[in-house]
Amino acid sequence: MKLIYVAGKGGVGKSVCSAASGIWTSNQGKETLVFSMDPAHSLSDIFDIDLGSRPEKIHDHLYAYEPDLTEEAQNFFGRYKNILTALFGLFEVEVKPKDFGSMPGVSELIFMDKLHEIYVDRKYDYVVIDSAPTAMVLPLLQLPSITTGFITKVLGMRNRWMGVLDLLEPGFGGRILSEVRTMRQKAETMRNVLIDPEKASVTVVTIPEKAAVEESRRLIETVESHGVTVSAVVINHVIADCNCRFCREKKASQSSYIEDLMNRYQRKEIVILPDYGGEVKGASLFRVAEDLYRNR
Ligand SMILES: Nc1ncnc2c1ncn2[C@@H]1O[C@H](COP(=O)(O)OP(=O)(O)OP(=O)(O)O)[C@@H](O)[C@H]1O
Ligand SMILES: [Mg+2]
Repeated sequence: MKLIYVAGKGGVGKSVCSAASGIWTSNQGKETLVFSMDPAHSLSDIFDIDLGSRPEKIHDHLYAYEPDLTEEAQNFFGRYKNILTALFGLFEVEVKPKDFGSMPGVSELIFMDKLHEIYVDRKYDYVVIDSAPTAMVLPLLQLPSITTGFITKVLGMRNRWMGVLDLLEPGFGGRILSEVRTMRQKAETMRNVLIDPEKASVTVVTIPEKAAVEESRRLIETVESHGVTVSAVVINHVIADCNCRFCREKKASQSSYIEDLMNRYQRKEIVILPDYGGEVKGASLFRVAEDLYRNR
């Protein structure tokens, strides 16, 4: 099973590239799942199909879904009830499972758990992850450190609190530790998957404009500093040859950024995706899939 993680700045075409990647691999006869890690889902619009919160078959070999973060937060809460109750209880914070998903860092933990579930299920040959826009970092890659930080806190409290917890309810401390170990083991499994180029690849989508090129550079640096290789850079919205003044000017301004990206990322696959002149959805994804993968 291979994970294809599609990242990039807001609005550059991540969801379109994720959907088109799913179309491509499923057309090769590979069982593929495309799922959105962006709480502001857009895969339904792009596939032009109403997706649910469970994987649904939308073409031969192709499944897609948009997880419902509130529902996933409740499942997650149920799975790690003991740690979460103890943590929030100790800090005297009352958190309801339905509010839990919107706490900082929690959606990353939930997605890690979800991705791990999909990974160990081994139902698919390819899993394409359409990610949320990144300001500077790829949240999933921070997971091991977020999780480790979280676990260190819990373990740090262990000596002080475990006896008290056990007094409150016999065996409670032990149950907490076992949940902590499970969570850490899952985060480590997913980290090992992400740093293995045979098991995961990260594609960064960008557009040939100053802010986007700068942001991609920072994103790629951050991702690679976590030991994860970005294998491909997609330069989207590239203006085709056209002699009208608007296109000529736009093309001239794009060309230096394209050149810059090509020089900087010589060792990565660079894919140039044309501007299609309008929204890309439904059947037009087949053309995008061709343009994305034809020469790879
Ligand atoms: N090459 C292209 N030519 C024309 N339109 C495009 C192209 N690529 C993407 N689009 C359009 O741009 C818009 C944004 O694309 P998309 O939703 O894939 O971006 P995104 O990076 O996922 O955005 P967000 O960060 O909001 O999730 C969509 O309307 C899409 O149809
Ligand atoms: Mg998107």
